[in-house]
Amino acid sequence: MKNSNEIKKALFNIGYGLYVITSRNAYKDNGLIVNSVMQITDNPNRIAVTINKKNYSHEIISETEIMNINCLSVDAPMSVFENFGFQSGKLSDKFRYITFSRSKNGLAVLSDYINSFISLKVEQYLDFDTHGMFICSVTDAETINNNKSMTYSYYLENVKPKPKKTNKKGYICKICGYIHEGELPDDFICPLCKHGVADFEPINIKEEKEMKKYVCDACGWVYDEELGAPDLGIAPGTKFEDLPEDFACPLCGVGKDMFSEE
Ligand SMILES: Cc1cc2nc3c(=O)[nH]c(=O)nc-3n(C[C@H](O)[C@H](O)[C@H](O)COP(=O)(O)O)c2cc1C
Repeated sequence: MKNSNEIKKALFNIGYGLYVITSRNAYKDNGLIVNSVMQITDNPNRIAVTINKKNYSHEIISETEIMNINCLSVDAPMSVFENFGFQSGKLSDKFRYITFSRSKNGLAVLSDYINSFISLKVEQYLDFDTHGMFICSVTDAETINNNKSMTYSYYLENVKPKPKKTNKKGYICKICGYIHEGELPDDFICPLCKHGVADFEPINIKEEKEMKKYVCDACGWVYDEELGAPDLGIAPGTKFEDLPEDFACPLCGVGKDMFSEE
């Protein structure tokens, strides 16, 4: 059996699209980002959408049994992912600053950054412990433009900000151990032992005490050690390695092994 990192790496090669699933209950319109949309059969058309049970959308769709798939196009900016994917509708009104129209089923269709929408009616529900899979029939659909569809890999390569490097370049004086951060000018003299650049060698300065950030590979939620996660009872300054083993991403529910250092 391969180790879990190798398996995780291979699973990332499964291709996905990205979508905003819109829904609505008596209180508000809501939407969430998903990659888990898949057509299962074409006669009749059946589509599966998998949603984490902790997400508000899961609660709304379980109750109302309808949803819209808004197919994101490559022009969708990071703010769309932040609005629909990095916060829960339990705590926010995600449609406050969004322009949209309504399809025949009364649900929201985004006015921007999509190339089509598909209205669904839930026919079956499959329980997968942490997630629920909604198997749906298609009640309506429309192509809005011919823009290219947003894929998960396009999002990772072109939309999601790249992690910042935490290692800084520097030079260490081989004579006294003094560390100079950044480039070394030719006429540099060690302020401690007064030796010149010939006695320095390049190093990567790793700031051991530095607070790090860890990003959820599945949904992009970030755990910042400096801030902790007070909502989850985790104090500021708690190192990632000290989080409980059963710690789960508050947005998408995956475990610690699905986080990478930023
Ligand atoms: C790129 C990306 C893909 C995601 N895919 C899924 C998914 O397939 N299923 C899911 O339940 N959540 C997924 N999420 C997480 C939800 O969008 C996120 O938890 C959202 O805040 C839930 O909102 P809600 O509580 O209002 O429903 C994804 C997030 C991102 C950024």
